[in-house]
Amino acid sequence: MGEFRLEELSATNIVAANNLTLRPGQEAFVVPPTYAIADNYIDPTTTWPRVVLDGDTVVGFIRGNFDPDAAQEEFRSAVWRVHVAAEQQGHGIGTFAVLALADEARQRGFDRLTALWEPGEEGPEAFFTNIGFEVIGETQYGEKFGALKL
Ligand SMILES: CC(C)(COP(=O)(O)OP(=O)(O)OC[C@H]1O[C@@H](n2cnc3c(N)ncnc32)[C@H](O)[C@@H]1OP(=O)(O)O)[C@@H](O)C(=O)NCCC(=O)NCCS
Repeated sequence: MGEFRLEELSATNIVAANNLTLRPGQEAFVVPPTYAIADNYIDPTTTWPRVVLDGDTVVGFIRGNFDPDAAQEEFRSAVWRVHVAAEQQGHGIGTFAVLALADEARQRGFDRLTALWEPGEEGPEAFFTNIGFEVIGETQYGEKFGALKL
């Protein structure tokens, strides 16, 4: 694993974060339908957006959501989005970002971090289960909810 670090999303790095590339077939998995819908209702102050840097290069993005009062329990301490640049995938960057988010959740007093993903060949299920997420439920769209105990 390289020397990766997190930096708050800002005017300086947002363009690079928005321009992160995807591998063919991954487009469908970036924003699961349940998140796309919830995005319209979520309180913007509960979001935790960070870029992952390798030196000065933005190689990934992670957005967490921390809202102890969220009506949907799985949104209270959650991985909302995680994305690693196509050419940088497979080097531990995604794992680094999710574990950093897990640390943040732990510091905020949460005892689990949840994630939501769509099953499928090019999807991130193996990535999340590799880290230790266990499937705890399913949405009406067939997406999986996973939880990582902290
Ligand atoms: C999912 C994603 C963030 C993983 O990032 P990454 O930096 O490649 O992940 P890591 O290198 O930390 O991978 C850790 C493990 O998961 C596995 N893994 C990663 N992505 C995987 C995938 N799409 N399918 C199967 N296994 C995968 C790796 O093989 C690795 O296992 P290993 O260490 O035993 O070899 C990245 O593939 C991505 O940006 N995907 C597109 C966006 C997306 O789907 N995000 C999730 C939406 S909720």
